Amino acid sequence: MTSTNDIRRSFLDYFGGAGHHVEPSSPLVPHNDPTLMFVNAGMVPFKNVFTGLEKRPYTTATSSQKCVRAGGKHNDLDNVGFTARHHTFFEMLGNFSFGDYFKEEAIHHAWTLITKEWGLPAEKLTATVYHTDDEAFNLWRKISGLPEERIIRIPTNDNFWSMGDTGPCGPCSEIFFDHGDHIWGGPPGSPEEDGDRFVEIWNLVFMQYEQMAGGERVDLPRPSIDTGMGLERIAAVMQGVHDNYDTDTFKALIAASVDLTGVPADEARRASHRVIADHLRASSFLIADGVLPSNEGRGYVLRRIMRRAMRHAHLLGAKDPLMHRLLPSLATEMGAAYPELLRAQPLISETLEREETKFRQTLDKGLRLLEVEVDAIERMSQAYNDSANVGFDQPDAIRFPNNAPPKRELSGEVAFKLYDTFGFPYDLTEDALRTQNITVDREGFDKAMAKQKAAARAAWKGSGEKASDEIWFDLAESNGSTEFIGYTGTSGEASIVALVKDGATVDQASAGDDVIVLTNQTPFYGESGGQAGDAGMITTLDGVKAVVSDTSKPLGRLHAHHAKLESGTLKVGDSILLTVDAQRRDRIRANHSATHLLHAALRGHLGGHVTQKGSLVAEDRLRFDFSHPKALSPEEIAAIEAEVNAQIRGNEAVTTRLMTPEDAIEAGAMALFGEKYGDEVRVLSMGAGDGKSYSVELCGGTHVRALGDIALLKIVSESAVSSGVRRIEALTGEAARLWLVNRDDALKSVAATLKTTPDDVPSRVAALADALKKAERELADAKKALAMGGGAGGNGPAVETVGSTAFIAQVVDGLDPKNLRGAVDDLKKQVGTGVAMLVAINEGRASVAVGVAGDAGQSAVDLVKLAVAALGGQGGGGRPDMAQGGGPNGDAAQDAVAAVRAALSA
Ligand code: ALA
Repeated sequence: MTSTNDIRRSFLDYFGGAGHHVEPSSPLVPHNDPTLMFVNAGMVPFKNVFTGLEKRPYTTATSSQKCVRAGGKHNDLDNVGFTARHHTFFEMLGNFSFGDYFKEEAIHHAWTLITKEWGLPAEKLTATVYHTDDEAFNLWRKISGLPEERIIRIPTNDNFWSMGDTGPCGPCSEIFFDHGDHIWGGPPGSPEEDGDRFVEIWNLVFMQYEQMAGGERVDLPRPSIDTGMGLERIAAVMQGVHDNYDTDTFKALIAASVDLTGVPADEARRASHRVIADHLRASSFLIADGVLPSNEGRGYVLRRIMRRAMRHAHLLGAKDPLMHRLLPSLATEMGAAYPELLRAQPLISETLEREETKFRQTLDKGLRLLEVEVDAIERMSQAYNDSANVGFDQPDAIRFPNNAPPKRELSGEVAFKLYDTFGFPYDLTEDALRTQNITVDREGFDKAMAKQKAAARAAWKGSGEKASDEIWFDLAESNGSTEFIGYTGTSGEASIVALVKDGATVDQASAGDDVIVLTNQTPFYGESGGQAGDAGMITTLDGVKAVVSDTSKPLGRLHAHHAKLESGTLKVGDSILLTVDAQRRDRIRANHSATHLLHAALRGHLGGHVTQKGSLVAEDRLRFDFSHPKALSPEEIAAIEAEVNAQIRGNEAVTTRLMTPEDAIEAGAMALFGEKYGDEVRVLSMGAGDGKSYSVELCGGTHVRALGDIALLKIVSESAVSSGVRRIEALTGEAARLWLVNRDDALKSVAATLKTTPDDVPSRVAALADALKKAERELADAKKALAMGGGAGGNGPAVETVGSTAFIAQVVDGLDPKNLRGAVDDLKKQVGTGVAMLVAINEGRASVAVGVAGDAGQSAVDLVKLAVAALGGQGGGGRPDMAQGGGPNGDAAQDAVAAVRAALSA
């Protein structure tokens, strides 16, 4: 038997060998199509190459592309489990020519691969062509030799494939495999074509035209080829089975499910095992590609798929969460072809287990409610049947209007209660009722949902939120949250859902306008959790250019692009290309991851009391406020900085997981300030230490892939914000390097001035400072000596006797008042026992000091007050042996001396 893995390999090898570039599968979340929820065909990642918008270094390619058809236009979810060929997740094998080869080579390759390489018997194959495509008809005749009756002309759109309302399109040719007459069905185009006997295995699209907006169809300058072959279908053919679920991959998954539940996959339980196997694949691949369960958008589609499988696990009687225990089997089957599955295995496992644990808490109760309702419906049906027998004249018979049978329909309100209270997605309820032949009142469900929304709105209005937020509330109500697709990339296409100008919604914006652009999805991070919003560009094919200077996040769930429209016109509904300034984002990323490392280092060095009090993660720097009672010592700062840089050099990968906030905090994650946490939180782990991650934090921000991307952390300041709160500012990467370069330049210039080397600058500066201090001291002494009349000339004051008191007084110019007391002390020594007085004149003002030496019977305080009064001042004071004061009239210095002298003589 040829395994599915062998078939995939052999397909890629065949086209690789024929010169095709082998392109790995793109992630399931498309970044190049705003209208698409998930990649649903092999050509989606090449969309822009077909239209000529994007050039690649090759003109032919081949891939095995992961596809999901659940949610959005192609929704196969409801059928999965009950048919042979429906899947939510499947792989599409394809070969592509971008203006290289066309029909002949495409048909030749297809025929060669399936009949020569794979040896499928030609008699089991049928081809179809578009009814007017004679060229393809003739090529099939020539290349395959199929008889004319097995090249069937089909006049419908089944054989004309288009990418969308506009864009490349063309006739297509499909290859069918005949599974044999034991299965009912007829060849394509026949009345029995809907049967399951003839199965389409390969679609070759001859992209030949471009559909223009006005309805006109023009020739493409370079016709192209897009083909798609469902791997699961061809595996069934090559493994000699009719049903995709009987191929090796599914058999292994179903065997694992049988093994773990102990329930055989017999008639009654087959659908449940199939649903589980299919949904395990879809869920695991979606999680591996960054989708996580949520209540909106892609995350909700994932949740619906997961919960549908989980109900079937419950039906099989699984006592514990089952899905994550099947993951190892999936990894064995598909991990080699899709390494992302292995890389993300822990995340997938945790996410599956958590979702199942959570859902099981309400599943039982919900199912019980459903049982009661179903019971009531059954009883009504029974009563109707009985009434037909007993007749309507019986007193206790229920009356049925017009004698019509009661509807076997679950009320919308109950379906809504199941949704709202018990976490049953709408389609899960439908699925649960399917085998009982009961439908759900969709209209009633929608009505109940609308009623709840209206109540939420009334509550919101009453909560006193800002009126300016009302516009955002309305927009969130009508459009849902903006889906952030920027964790994995920095560009993507989106549809405009609203334009806001001067605080009001507008239908369009023109060149020169400042406008806020709201889209269904975006790679632009909206400012939150301290991280700055992204900046970048909005462009379109028809010449729109708008510069996005910032992205805010009103209500915490809309991403509002603040843009200036430079050229063109933007309208609601337009498709635009959003391109984040990736270098700026890289700088923000580095600063954000560095903030986490810094937080961990601060706690490690200062203690567990350190908690985040605020943070700013900007393009050019990071700022982190934290609780700590005192300033950090230079040694502490140095140790913290060194430790963070050691982590950066360790270059460990940064990992993200999703947990409930409780689990995350239990696991040691530090909750970040200012974030509101929902049901589930992203948990960022980075760095290594003591056998666990160095830092674990809850965080919705964008981060580096590996710590080495930060390159360098430099703490540039540490200061107080308020009592008990400190602030560190730091730089990373190129900004840190430039800061160090500037410091180095400054040092070099100082060294040049000092005529020394940078290394000798510290000792030179210390020596200079010493020398300066010494020189200043000498200068002050010299000034004093000069002022006091000392020094070489030596004409100092003389001691006189006034009354019975020895008195010495001096008036000096330019003596620093600081030195006044010292100088009076000198005079006191000269006088022995008596009174010393000194008046210093500086810029017209006088300072005066009076000292009383020994037992002179005088009060310095009384005397200085007299002097101060004479100088036109007020007060003056000190101790009885030394008092000081001053006054504005320097000219009256001699009057002050005279006043003291007069007092002594009295
Ligand atoms: N794009 C083509 C399809 O999806 C091959 O069928």
